[in-house]
Amino acid sequence: MSNALTIALSKGRIFKETLPLLAAADIVPVDDPETSRKLILDTNHDDVKLVIIRASDVPTYVGYGAADVGVAGKDVLLEHGGEGLYEPVDLKIACCRLMVAGPEGTPNAHGRMKIATKYVKSTRRYYADRQEQVEIIKLYGSMELAPLVGLADRIVDVVDTGNTLKANGLVPLEHIADISSRLVVNKASMKMKHARITALVNRLQAAVSA
Ligand code: ATP
Ligand code: PRP
Repeated sequence: MSNALTIALSKGRIFKETLPLLAAADIVPVDDPETSRKLILDTNHDDVKLVIIRASDVPTYVGYGAADVGVAGKDVLLEHGGEGLYEPVDLKIACCRLMVAGPEGTPNAHGRMKIATKYVKSTRRYYADRQEQVEIIKLYGSMELAPLVGLADRIVDVVDTGNTLKANGLVPLEHIADISSRLVVNKASMKMKHARITALVNRLQAAVSA
C-alpha cells in the first residue's frame, strides 16, 4: 500500500456516517462494502484506498501503519489504548453513551457485583476510580442477555435510544462516557504523508463544523 493513502473503515454505521464527510473531502468509494465482497475498495482517486475491517480492529491496523488513517468509536479507542495513534478530529458521528445498565429496581448486590461487558478496560477503570470491587465477565456481544439469564448483575455497553435496554427489561443506571467516532492517524504516516493527511484532516474538520 506504500504510496497510496489507506483509510480504514468498518461496515455499517461508521461507513454510512463517514461517507458524506469523505465526500466533502472529495473522496468517493467506487464499490459499496455492503454488497461487495472486496476488502480493499477503490475510490475516485488512484492513490486513495479504503480498507474494510471490524470496528474494533481499526486502531490495530492504523497503530501498526497497515492503514494510514481510520475512523473508530471512542469506546473502541478507550479499550485499545491509542498507542501509535493521533486522534485529530472528533467526527461527531455514531454518537452514543457508555453506560452501566441493569434490571430496574435491583439494589446493589451484596459482595462483588458481576459486570458483563466487551469493554473490560473501561469498566475496570470506572469501578477502580470509584473504589468498588467488581467481577468483570468478558463478552463479545449481546450483553443485554447476561442479567436476564443470571450471568451478571449489570452490564456496561453503549446506549443510544435506549430501545435495546428497554426491550430486555433493563434500565440505564450510570453514565461512564460520551462516545463519538474519531479520525485516527498513524504517527509515522503523519510524517511521511504529511501534506495529504493534513489536507484530509482540515477538510474533514470543516465538514464536521459545517
Ligand atoms: P465489531 O464489529 O467490531 O463487533 P460493532 O458491532 O460494535 O463492532 P458497530 O455496531 O458498527 O460495530 O459500531 C461502531 C461504533 O458505533 C461503536 O464503536 C460505537 O462507537 C458506535 N455505536 C455502537 N452502537 C451504537 C448505537 N446504537 N448508536 C450509535 N452509535 C453506536
Ligand atoms: C449497539 C449496542 C446496543 C445498542 C444500543 O448494538 O451494543 O445493543 O446498539 O442502541 P440503542 O440504545 O439505540 O438500542 P448494535 O451495534 O447491534 O446496534 P444496532 O442494532 O443499532 O446496530
